[in-house]
Amino acid sequence: VPMKRQLTQTMRKKMPEDLFQLLTMIGKTAAQINMSAYLIGGMVRDLLLEHSNEDMDIVVEGDGITLAAKLQEIYGGQIRTHHEFRTATWKHPAGFKIDLTSARTEYYDFPAALPKVELSTIKEDLYRRDFTINAMGICISPDEFGDLLDYFHGYEDLNQGRIRTLYNLSFVEDPTRILRAIRFESRFQFEMDEQTADLAIQSANNLMSVSKSRQAAELSRMFYEENPLASFERMRDLGITSFILKSKVSNQLIIKRIKAMNGFKNLFDEVQKPFESHIWLGYVMMFYKDVLEESHHIEGYASRKYERKLFYDVLRLIPLVTNIRSDYSISDLHVQFAGSTDEAISVSCSHLLSEHTEMVKNYLNRRASISFELTGQDLIREGYTPSPDFKKMLFDAACQQLEYPESTKDELIQHIQSQENKE
Ligand code: CTP
Repeated sequence: VPMKRQLTQTMRKKMPEDLFQLLTMIGKTAAQINMSAYLIGGMVRDLLLEHSNEDMDIVVEGDGITLAAKLQEIYGGQIRTHHEFRTATWKHPAGFKIDLTSARTEYYDFPAALPKVELSTIKEDLYRRDFTINAMGICISPDEFGDLLDYFHGYEDLNQGRIRTLYNLSFVEDPTRILRAIRFESRFQFEMDEQTADLAIQSANNLMSVSKSRQAAELSRMFYEENPLASFERMRDLGITSFILKSKVSNQLIIKRIKAMNGFKNLFDEVQKPFESHIWLGYVMMFYKDVLEESHHIEGYASRKYERKLFYDVLRLIPLVTNIRSDYSISDLHVQFAGSTDEAISVSCSHLLSEHTEMVKNYLNRRASISFELTGQDLIREGYTPSPDFKKMLFDAACQQLEYPESTKDELIQHIQSQENKE
């Protein structure tokens, strides 16, 4: 029998006050309609790790939709329901998003369930999850508020920094969990225990049958939030890379490209314009020999609007980056890249391991650091009549400002006038 732990004090101290109040009140409302409610998953793990997490997953022994409707009735907000799974998402008026899931459906066959049966339902729910550290719950019903449910030694694994599956077929049933294991390893600097790592290696070939969109769901998280280099190296060491992304390039080349990407990432972090989340797809592109030739492999990963945009922007930019010349000025680069995003330019340079990377970085750094001063309104104020020429005039001013970041508005207008006189 696992040790009983009481977490009310930890919750009170480590959670934002409003979150704590919200949990208390959800537990009370559930009790009023005879349901037990548990906070489960990532938020429990992160509470114990003292990491912040705002994704509230609640499992109820009872019907999640009924509870959501009751909460909305009392506290307002909006609910979205998924009837086939008896789950609901409640958007609290203060902005919190709370997922309410029903524990095992068997429960409905025994409406007068004994406490023992109730316990086994939440236990079963937790047992179906990926790793022990994610399979803990905290009761939020008033009677047992704050009690930790830890049937699988998640608490100990968390303290030991261990990623461990709950049952041997876990990776076979859901091969994307292999990617999740790697992601949690690199996020928390944890490690799979020996048996889990062995199971990951043995089940890796199952990744081949996972659809690209499901792969994308995990890869996007792996390559956006985590240390992409560490994740890649772990994938390589476990022999997973050949089953996912079907890479035909050497690991060394991938590592060089990822390092180049990290160079750009650091640049934008420094100027406080971090990469947008769809950058993960850029990391995926590093696994292909030639994105132009292998675009059909990559396209399937790009399903969202900004992912598709990044993908097509990179395809368009590759020839432009290839043709950069050493004597290009900042304005020359702006002529090529003005309409392209930081992400697309960074991905293209990194993919090609462009010898002009430093030049491009310098340009991007300037571009990110200045705010372009002149607007069409300024030109009108100067007596110009609005016309399609405005576009070129403003572009000239932008180039001038990139070359001479200290330029004042007046100087930029003078520059435009002198350009006109030349023509
Ligand atoms: N889960 C699982 N198998 C998966 C995906 C998710 O068992 N393939 C479970 C995990 O137990 C997880 C919960 O569903 O705790 C919620 O999943 P998700 O939101 O993806 O993970 P979090 O653990 O909350 O991770 P993060 O902090 O990255 O959001």
